[in-house]
Amino acid sequence: MNFLGFKEKVKSSFNLDLNAYKERQLKRRIDSLMVKLNQDAGNYYSFWKLLVADRGAYMHFLDTLTINVSEFFRDKSMFNFLEEKVFPLLLAKRKVLKIWSAACSSGAEPYSLAIILDEMTPGYRHLIEGSDIDRNILQAAAYGRYSHEQVRNVSRLRLENYFNKEGSLYVLKDSIKRKVSFRQHDLLLSPFGMGYDLIACRNVTIYFTREAQENLNIKFYRALNHGGVLFIGASEMIFNYHELGFEKMASCFYLKK
Ligand SMILES: C[S@@+](CC[C@H](N)C(=O)[O-])C[C@H]1O[C@@H](n2cnc3c(N)ncnc32)[C@H](O)[C@@H]1O
Repeated sequence: MNFLGFKEKVKSSFNLDLNAYKERQLKRRIDSLMVKLNQDAGNYYSFWKLLVADRGAYMHFLDTLTINVSEFFRDKSMFNFLEEKVFPLLLAKRKVLKIWSAACSSGAEPYSLAIILDEMTPGYRHLIEGSDIDRNILQAAAYGRYSHEQVRNVSRLRLENYFNKEGSLYVLKDSIKRKVSFRQHDLLLSPFGMGYDLIACRNVTIYFTREAQENLNIKFYRALNHGGVLFIGASEMIFNYHELGFEKMASCFYLKK
Protein backbone atom coordinates (compact mmCIF):
# COMPACT_ATOMS: atom_id res chain seq x y z
CA MET A 1 0.00 0.00 0.00
CA ASN A 2 1.41 3.41 -0.92
CA PHE A 3 1.02 6.59 1.11
CA LEU A 4 -2.10 7.57 -0.84
CA GLY A 5 -3.74 4.23 0.03
CA PHE A 6 -2.71 4.72 3.66
CA LYS A 7 -4.45 8.10 3.73
CA GLU A 8 -7.64 6.53 2.34
CA LYS A 9 -7.55 3.76 4.96
CA VAL A 10 -7.05 6.31 7.74
CA LYS A 11 -10.03 8.29 6.43
CA SER A 12 -12.32 5.26 6.37
CA SER A 13 -11.13 3.76 9.68
CA PHE A 14 -10.75 6.88 11.81
CA ASN A 15 -12.60 9.61 9.89
CA LEU A 16 -9.39 11.65 9.70
CA ASP A 17 -8.73 13.60 6.50
CA LEU A 18 -4.95 13.49 5.98
CA ASN A 19 -5.34 14.87 2.46
CA ALA A 20 -5.82 18.31 3.92
CA TYR A 21 -2.40 18.25 5.66
CA LYS A 22 0.73 19.35 3.77
CA GLU A 23 1.96 16.10 2.25
CA ARG A 24 5.75 16.37 2.55
CA GLN A 25 5.70 17.48 6.19
CA LEU A 26 3.07 14.89 7.10
CA LYS A 27 4.87 12.01 5.40
CA ARG A 28 8.16 12.94 7.06
CA ARG A 29 6.51 12.92 10.48
CA ILE A 30 4.69 9.64 9.86
CA ASP A 31 7.83 7.96 8.48
CA SER A 32 9.81 8.93 11.55
CA LEU A 33 7.02 7.66 13.82
CA MET A 34 7.12 4.33 11.94
CA VAL A 35 10.86 4.08 12.68
CA LYS A 36 10.18 4.87 16.35
CA LEU A 37 7.52 2.14 16.50
CA ASN A 38 9.82 -0.39 14.80
CA GLN A 39 7.75 -0.54 11.61
CA ASP A 40 9.26 -1.48 8.24
CA ALA A 41 10.01 1.66 6.25
CA GLY A 42 7.37 2.19 3.57
CA ASN A 43 5.10 -0.63 4.75
CA TYR A 44 2.05 1.54 5.22
CA TYR A 45 -0.34 -1.40 5.17
CA SER A 46 1.15 -3.03 8.25
CA PHE A 47 1.39 0.39 9.91
CA TRP A 48 -2.32 1.00 9.26
CA LYS A 49 -3.09 -2.44 10.73
CA LEU A 50 -1.07 -1.55 13.81
CA LEU A 51 -3.03 1.71 14.21
CA VAL A 52 -6.32 -0.19 14.05
CA ALA A 53 -5.20 -2.83 16.55
CA ASP A 54 -3.16 -0.83 19.04
CA ARG A 55 -4.70 2.18 20.79
CA GLY A 56 -1.30 3.33 22.11
CA ALA A 57 0.16 3.40 18.59
CA TYR A 58 -2.90 5.29 17.37
CA MET A 59 -2.47 7.89 20.13
CA HIS A 60 1.19 8.30 19.07
CA PHE A 61 0.02 8.72 15.52
CA LEU A 62 -2.47 11.43 16.56
CA ASP A 63 0.32 13.22 18.38
CA THR A 64 2.33 13.48 15.17
CA LEU A 65 -0.60 15.26 13.51
CA THR A 66 -1.32 17.50 16.39
CA ILE A 67 1.70 19.32 17.61
CA ASN A 68 0.32 20.65 20.88
CA VAL A 69 2.83 23.39 21.69
CA SER A 70 1.09 26.44 23.11
CA GLU A 71 1.51 29.10 25.79
CA PHE A 72 -0.39 31.97 27.39
CA PHE A 73 -0.37 35.24 25.40
CA ARG A 74 1.57 33.63 22.56
CA ASP A 75 3.00 36.50 20.48
CA LYS A 76 2.48 39.05 23.23
CA SER A 77 2.26 42.08 20.96
CA MET A 78 -0.73 40.49 19.18
CA PHE A 79 -2.52 40.01 22.49
CA ASN A 80 -1.74 43.67 23.33
CA PHE A 81 -3.36 44.71 20.07
CA LEU A 82 -6.33 42.52 20.88
CA GLU A 83 -6.70 44.15 24.27
CA GLU A 84 -6.16 47.72 23.13
CA LYS A 85 -7.94 47.75 19.77
CA VAL A 86 -9.97 44.64 19.01
CA PHE A 87 -11.87 44.03 22.25
CA PRO A 88 -12.84 47.72 22.67
CA LEU A 89 -14.23 47.66 19.12
CA LEU A 90 -16.19 44.45 19.74
CA LEU A 91 -17.43 45.54 23.17
CA ALA A 92 -18.68 48.84 21.76
CA LYS A 93 -21.15 46.80 19.71
CA ARG A 94 -22.03 44.02 22.14
CA LYS A 95 -21.81 43.70 25.90
CA VAL A 96 -21.53 39.93 25.87
CA LEU A 97 -19.17 38.38 23.33
CA LYS A 98 -19.21 34.94 21.73
CA ILE A 99 -15.68 33.69 21.18
CA TRP A 100 -14.17 30.53 19.71
CA SER A 101 -10.58 29.46 20.14
CA ALA A 102 -10.30 26.77 17.46
CA ALA A 103 -7.45 24.24 17.78
CA CYS A 104 -6.82 25.56 21.28
CA SER A 105 -4.47 22.78 22.44
CA SER A 106 -3.94 22.87 26.22
CA GLY A 107 -6.26 25.86 26.66
CA ALA A 108 -3.66 28.61 27.15
CA GLU A 109 -5.19 30.59 24.28
CA PRO A 110 -8.86 30.68 25.36
CA TYR A 111 -7.81 31.23 28.98
CA SER A 112 -5.64 34.18 27.87
CA LEU A 113 -8.72 35.66 26.19
CA ALA A 114 -10.78 34.99 29.34
CA ILE A 115 -8.18 36.77 31.52
CA ILE A 116 -8.16 39.89 29.33
CA LEU A 117 -11.97 40.03 29.27
CA ASP A 118 -12.21 39.44 32.99
CA GLU A 119 -10.07 42.52 33.52
CA MET A 120 -11.87 44.63 30.92
CA THR A 121 -15.42 43.64 31.83
CA PRO A 122 -15.49 42.31 35.39
CA GLY A 123 -18.64 40.40 36.22
CA TYR A 124 -19.70 39.81 32.60
CA ARG A 125 -20.28 36.26 31.39
CA HIS A 126 -18.92 36.07 27.87
CA LEU A 127 -19.24 32.82 25.99
CA ILE A 128 -15.74 31.46 25.38
CA GLU A 129 -15.35 28.08 23.67
CA GLY A 130 -12.14 26.16 23.12
CA SER A 131 -11.96 23.24 20.71
CA ASP A 132 -9.37 20.83 19.43
CA ILE A 133 -9.24 17.57 17.49
CA ASP A 134 -7.27 15.94 20.30
CA ARG A 135 -9.42 14.75 23.23
CA ASN A 136 -6.40 14.17 25.49
CA ILE A 137 -5.16 17.72 25.17
CA LEU A 138 -8.69 18.96 25.89
CA GLN A 139 -8.62 17.05 29.16
CA ALA A 140 -5.38 18.80 30.03
CA ALA A 141 -7.02 22.12 29.07
CA ALA A 142 -9.93 21.50 31.44
CA TYR A 143 -7.42 20.55 34.14
CA GLY A 144 -5.60 23.89 33.72
CA ARG A 145 -2.09 23.16 35.01
CA TYR A 146 0.86 24.80 33.29
CA SER A 147 4.64 24.84 33.37
CA HIS A 148 6.76 27.91 33.97
CA GLU A 149 7.52 28.00 30.22
CA GLN A 150 3.84 28.14 29.32
CA VAL A 151 3.20 31.15 31.55
CA ARG A 152 6.39 33.06 30.75
CA ASN A 153 4.37 35.86 29.07
CA VAL A 154 1.96 36.23 31.98
CA SER A 155 2.59 39.33 34.11
CA ARG A 156 3.31 38.96 37.80
CA LEU A 157 -0.02 40.59 38.65
CA ARG A 158 -1.96 38.20 36.43
CA LEU A 159 -0.06 35.23 37.87
CA GLU A 160 -1.14 36.36 41.32
CA ASN A 161 -4.74 37.03 40.35
CA TYR A 162 -5.46 33.99 38.19
CA PHE A 163 -3.09 31.17 39.22
CA ASN A 164 -2.13 29.19 42.30
CA LYS A 165 1.37 27.77 42.51
CA GLU A 166 1.57 24.02 43.20
CA GLY A 167 5.17 22.87 43.29
CA SER A 168 6.64 23.88 39.97
CA LEU A 169 3.22 24.16 38.30
CA TYR A 170 0.90 27.12 37.80
CA VAL A 171 -2.70 26.05 38.38
CA LEU A 172 -5.51 28.20 37.02
CA LYS A 173 -8.06 29.35 39.57
CA ASP A 174 -11.57 27.93 39.16
CA SER A 175 -12.99 31.43 38.75
CA ILE A 176 -11.24 31.75 35.37
CA LYS A 177 -11.50 28.07 34.37
CA ARG A 178 -15.27 28.36 34.64
CA LYS A 179 -15.29 31.00 31.92
CA VAL A 180 -14.16 28.61 29.16
CA SER A 181 -15.93 25.49 27.88
CA PHE A 182 -14.14 22.85 25.81
CA ARG A 183 -15.35 20.46 23.12
CA GLN A 184 -13.78 18.13 20.58
CA HIS A 185 -13.93 19.52 17.03
CA ASP A 186 -12.09 18.66 13.81
CA LEU A 187 -11.59 21.80 11.73
CA LEU A 188 -11.53 19.72 8.57
CA LEU A 189 -14.65 17.64 9.14
CA SER A 190 -16.90 18.92 11.93
CA PRO A 191 -19.67 21.48 11.32
CA PHE A 192 -19.03 25.05 12.40
CA GLY A 193 -21.11 27.13 14.84
CA MET A 194 -22.38 30.62 14.04
CA GLY A 195 -22.61 34.10 15.49
CA TYR A 196 -19.04 34.54 16.78
CA ASP A 197 -17.61 37.97 17.55
CA LEU A 198 -14.06 36.66 17.67
CA ILE A 199 -12.51 33.49 16.31
CA ALA A 200 -8.91 32.71 17.21
CA CYS A 201 -7.42 30.02 15.02
CA ARG A 202 -3.68 30.15 15.39
CA ASN A 203 -0.72 27.98 14.52
CA VAL A 204 -2.66 25.08 13.08
CA THR A 205 -3.49 25.97 9.46
CA ILE A 206 0.26 26.02 8.74
CA TYR A 207 -0.03 22.21 8.66
CA PHE A 208 -2.86 22.27 6.11
CA THR A 209 -2.75 22.50 2.33
CA ARG A 210 -3.51 25.81 0.65
CA GLU A 211 -6.89 24.47 -0.47
CA ALA A 212 -7.84 23.38 3.05
CA GLN A 213 -6.73 26.78 4.39
CA GLU A 214 -8.91 28.57 1.84
CA ASN A 215 -11.96 26.45 2.68
CA LEU A 216 -11.42 27.13 6.37
CA ASN A 217 -11.22 30.87 5.85
CA ILE A 218 -14.55 30.80 4.01
CA LYS A 219 -16.08 28.86 6.90
CA PHE A 220 -14.62 31.22 9.50
CA TYR A 221 -16.03 34.16 7.57
CA ARG A 222 -19.51 32.61 7.64
CA ALA A 223 -19.25 31.73 11.33
CA LEU A 224 -18.45 35.33 12.32
CA ASN A 225 -20.98 38.09 12.97
CA HIS A 226 -20.69 41.21 10.82
CA GLY A 227 -18.01 43.31 12.49
CA GLY A 228 -16.51 40.13 13.99
CA VAL A 229 -12.76 39.44 13.91
CA LEU A 230 -10.61 36.49 12.88
CA PHE A 231 -7.33 36.25 14.83
CA ILE A 232 -4.65 34.07 13.17
CA GLY A 233 -1.06 33.07 13.98
CA ALA A 234 1.96 35.35 13.57
CA SER A 235 3.42 33.13 10.84
CA GLU A 236 0.11 32.84 8.97
CA MET A 237 -1.43 35.06 6.31
CA ILE A 238 -4.72 35.31 4.42
CA PHE A 239 -3.79 36.43 0.92
CA ASN A 240 -7.29 36.73 -0.52
CA TYR A 241 -8.88 38.40 2.53
CA HIS A 242 -10.36 41.18 0.42
CA GLU A 243 -12.06 38.72 -1.92
CA LEU A 244 -13.51 36.86 1.08
CA GLY A 245 -15.01 40.06 2.52
CA PHE A 246 -12.48 40.73 5.28
CA GLU A 247 -10.67 43.97 6.00
CA LYS A 248 -7.15 43.65 7.41
CA MET A 249 -6.96 45.52 10.73
CA ALA A 250 -3.33 44.62 11.41
CA SER A 251 -1.15 41.58 10.88
CA CYS A 252 -3.04 38.59 12.35
CA PHE A 253 -6.42 40.41 12.56
CA TYR A 254 -9.13 40.32 9.89
CA LEU A 255 -12.45 42.13 10.34
CA LYS A 256 -15.61 40.81 8.69
CA LYS A 257 -17.09 43.81 6.90
C1 LIG B 1 0.41 24.26 17.74
S1 LIG B 1 -1.14 23.96 18.49
C2 LIG B 1 -1.84 25.59 18.49
C3 LIG B 1 -2.43 25.95 19.81
C4 LIG B 1 -2.86 27.41 19.95
N1 LIG B 1 -3.86 27.76 18.96
C5 LIG B 1 -1.68 28.35 19.86
O1 LIG B 1 -1.53 29.04 18.85
O2 LIG B 1 -0.87 28.36 20.79
C6 LIG B 1 -2.01 23.14 17.16
C7 LIG B 1 -3.26 22.43 17.62
O3 LIG B 1 -4.01 22.09 16.46
C8 LIG B 1 -4.72 20.91 16.73
N2 LIG B 1 -5.16 20.32 15.45
C9 LIG B 1 -4.44 19.69 14.49
N3 LIG B 1 -5.25 19.29 13.47
C10 LIG B 1 -6.50 19.71 13.81
C11 LIG B 1 -7.78 19.61 13.18
N4 LIG B 1 -7.91 19.01 11.99
N5 LIG B 1 -8.86 20.14 13.80
C12 LIG B 1 -8.73 20.75 15.01
N6 LIG B 1 -7.56 20.87 15.66
C13 LIG B 1 -6.46 20.36 15.07
C14 LIG B 1 -3.69 20.09 17.48
O4 LIG B 1 -4.27 19.05 18.24
C15 LIG B 1 -2.98 21.13 18.34
O5 LIG B 1 -3.50 21.17 19.64
